[in-house]
Parts: sequence; C-alpha cells; structure tokens
Amino acid sequence: MNAGVTPIIELRDVSKSFPGVKALDHVSFSLKPGECRALVGENGAGKSTLAKIIIGHYTPSEGALYVDGANVSEKGGYHVRSSQQMGIAVVHQELQLIPEMNGLENLFIGNYEKKFGLVSRKAMLRKGEELLSFLGAEVDLTVPVKELRMAEKQIIQLAKAVSMQAKMIIMDELTAVLQEKEIENIYRIIRILKQRGIGIIYISHRLDEIFEVCDTYTVLCDGRLIHSGEVGDVNKDELIAMIIGREMTQIFPPLNERIGDPILELKGLTSEKAFRNIDMTVRTGEVVGIAGLVGAGKTELLNAIFGNYKITDGEIIWKGEKVSFKSPSAAIRKGIGLVPDERKQLGLVMNFNVVHNITLPSLKRFEKVTMQHGREREEANGVAKRMRVKATPQQSVVKLSGGNQQKIVISKWVLADSELFLFDEPTRGIDVGAKAEIYKLIHDLTAKGKSVVIVSPELEELLGLCHSIYVMFEGEFQTCVSGEDKTQSNIISKLLGV
Ligand SMILES: Nc1ncnc2c1ncn2[C@@H]1O[C@H](COP(=O)(O)OP(=O)(O)OP(=O)(O)O)[C@@H](O)[C@H]1O
Ligand SMILES: [Mg+2]
Repeated sequence: MNAGVTPIIELRDVSKSFPGVKALDHVSFSLKPGECRALVGENGAGKSTLAKIIIGHYTPSEGALYVDGANVSEKGGYHVRSSQQMGIAVVHQELQLIPEMNGLENLFIGNYEKKFGLVSRKAMLRKGEELLSFLGAEVDLTVPVKELRMAEKQIIQLAKAVSMQAKMIIMDELTAVLQEKEIENIYRIIRILKQRGIGIIYISHRLDEIFEVCDTYTVLCDGRLIHSGEVGDVNKDELIAMIIGREMTQIFPPLNERIGDPILELKGLTSEKAFRNIDMTVRTGEVVGIAGLVGAGKTELLNAIFGNYKITDGEIIWKGEKVSFKSPSAAIRKGIGLVPDERKQLGLVMNFNVVHNITLPSLKRFEKVTMQHGREREEANGVAKRMRVKATPQQSVVKLSGGNQQKIVISKWVLADSELFLFDEPTRGIDVGAKAEIYKLIHDLTAKGKSVVIVSPELEELLGLCHSIYVMFEGEFQTCVSGEDKTQSNIISKLLGV
C-alpha cells in the first residue's frame, strides 16, 4: 500500500518503561496518509502508551519517533503541543475536555473565531454546527460538557480533532461508548477522512469494527509487537488467536437452566425525568438484559434500583417485600451490587490500591475486633487473579490500563457476594479474552442462583447472555423478548420505537 510514500509517523524500535513494567518493548510501527491502521491487543498490552508516545505525552525510553520523515525525538522538546502543531490529534479513553466549559468553548479553545479583533460567538456557533452536521451528530454545544453524556463528549472530541485540520487522528476506544447507529456514523466519517488523506490509528476491542474500516493491523502483547499485516489477509478467529495467544472455541457459555422465584420486581416504576411505567421481573439464576439507545434511560433505571436515582412513582419489590432504598448503602446491605458505566467517577477510588478498591464494599467481613489485613489481601488477590487483572495488589489503580480498571470494579462486587448484580456496560473497553471470562463469570454466578441485570450497547452480547431482553425507548419498555423471539431483528425495530 502506498509504497514509497513517507509515513506520517514512524516509531523505530521504541521501548517505554514505567517502574516495574515494560509497557512497550522494541516496537516499530508506521502510518501512511489515508491509511487506517488497527492497533489491537489485550488490556495492558501497551496500545494507549504507544498512542501517548506519538502525541508527545510520553518520551520513549529507547528508540526514535519520526514525524513526516524527520526524527523528532533527537533533540528532545517534542511535547503534546508540538504534536498538535504538526496536525496529530487524539480522541482518548480519558476525556480531555474542560468540564465546566460548554461544547463550543471546548471546540475552539485557543482558536477563537474573531471579527474585527473580537471573539465572534455567532461565527463560532455556525462553525460548530457545521462540524456537527459533517459528523452527522446532534449535541447541544451551549451547555457545560460535564452535563453531556459520555458519547456526546466523545463526539465533541472528534469534532475538535477534525476542526484542527489534523493530518492524522488516533481514536483510542472511541466506539467503546457509542451505540450501533453512532458507530455506523463513525465508519462513514473515517471513510471520508481517509479519502482526504488523513491517517487514522484505530484502537478498539470490538474486532468486527476492524474488518469494517481498517486497512492494516498491528497486534501488541505485553508491550511486544506480535504481528502486523493487511486486514484483508486475516479473519476474526485468526486475529483473536494472535491477540490472546490461543484459540478461543466458545465465547458465550450456555444459559443457566435453573431459574427460581422472583428476587426483584418493578411495578410501574417511574422517575419523571428519565423513565415511566417500568414493569420488570428478575428471578434467581436469571440474566435479564436491557437494550436501548443512548438516552433511553437504562443507566438511570439501574441507578434507581440501586437507590441512587430518585423515583417518583411505582414500586420496587425485593424478595416479595416492598422496599425503598434511600441510598446505595441500603441496597448494598440487601445484596445488590452495581457496576456503573463511568467507572472513573463512580466505580473506583483512584488513589486507593487494587486490594482496597476490591474489598471496599466487603470490609465488614474482614473486621474481627481488628482488621484482618492478611485475609483481606488474600481474598482480593484471589478474585483479581480470576478476573486476570494485570496489576500488583499494592498498585494504585490510577495508572492501570482502562480495561484492568473495569475488571477491578467487577471484582469488588464478586467478592461482596451480591445476590443481584446490576451491570451497566460491563465489557466496555475489555479485551476479547477477558470478555469471555466475564461471560463465564456471569454464567457461574447464575448457576449459583445469583441474578444479573445487564445493560449493553452490543446486541450480540445481550443475545448471547440473557434469558430475556427488555427493549427500552425514550424511557419506556417497548417489549420483552425471550425464547424464540429473542432475535436481532425483533430488537432493532423496537430500539427505534417502531
Ligand atoms: N503512567 C504510567 N505509570 C505506570 N504504569 C503505566 C503508566 N501508563 C501505563 N502503565 C502500564 O503500562 C502497561 C500498558 O498500559 P496501556 O494503558 O498502554 O495498555 P492498553 O493496551 O491501552 O490497555 P487497555 O486495552 O486496557 O486500554 C500497563 O501495564 C499499565 O499498567
Ligand atoms: Mg488503553
């Protein structure tokens, strides 16, 4: 492909070490104009680190980085600002927006539209809206971005990259927070960008996407480059085998067959702002799915069950008894655990270490006159190991890769021995091997009589895991499918409210 063309960026034999970890180990990598290269690998493989070296956030410990054929690591002094000036943009896992500012201000920060030397808000708004319509997205640019949904924030980041006239864009798990329809839109945008000669590095754990838009791929494993090639020359199973280093025979385990009595019933549950008239039953041993587009009210519903979102009408019945949880701690005492969708804000205490995050909701169990630290550590380690968390027990969670953080949030509710697990997009950002691990965990939990309610943007995941799936549209349940009715087409039409 484009033989002889100078790559936009090239890494030659780059290594990057952090205390105790070699995040990149002699990796060579390049990207040409108009090329979309997939960067794949397990959680903690080094993908985001590679991205951060390209944007000048990290300096390589060894090796060199070339931009447009020139060695930029030679003299030092290559920073995030330099990469921006050279037209290298990134849409990150971690958001880079200023939460208190609105979308428009975030888009044009340091780059205001001026008219007669004055900032012209009108011109900016027009330009902002042009950008959004190019991206085929609708986002309110006038409210502080902290009030926007994750997916909307991502769109603003992407719009910003496009507006900077970037010559290459790194998309680090951009689609992890997007839904089917929005992902289609991203594909469309990528195709346009490619035609304009813009290079793209596409990082994702959703391998189907790679076959949809990428030309080439690079697989990392424990910081080492395992393989690079043309997407046209491999299939999905081969790619999975390269990523996890073994064949994977079965992704979804069979459904648990021993379903018992209702453990949770919702009757006419209503919260003025988010959802109305929700009727739902969850039995012991059952996995219940909720499908719905962004804004359908799924996250709010899970939080309402967890005592974390105000209910204005209707009933929650727990084991046959009407309950009303004033706070999450009341729900936790009854045996309910929630894995939230924004783990940074809700799921983890960032400056706590791995063990202390995992044991947080179970501390009572380790208190016998004095705290039993040894047992606490042992049990936390046991769960973390089962979840294949790549981290040492004493490590603070803030520096862990995104997927490993997610595994820790799940571990903590497993250890808390909850009876009902509320999972809000639990496999977001999780690698393919660990996904299968989580599916197996869900199976094991239900086989022990535990219950699961799961929200996921991936229909394939819901279809593979759930006994029944409720489809939510604009705050209301449209239908519940189970058994033979549990098909993709039945769900898709209801997702759009038709
Ligand atoms: N600033 C840092 N300090 C210490 N260790 C770090 C730092 N950044 C990354 N690491 C470690 O380097 C390794 C690679 O992390 P990286 O974030 O690049 O993984 P990744 O491939 O992006 O994973 P994921 O798919 O989970 O996002 C991990 O072991 C991680 O814990
Ligand atoms: Mg990452």
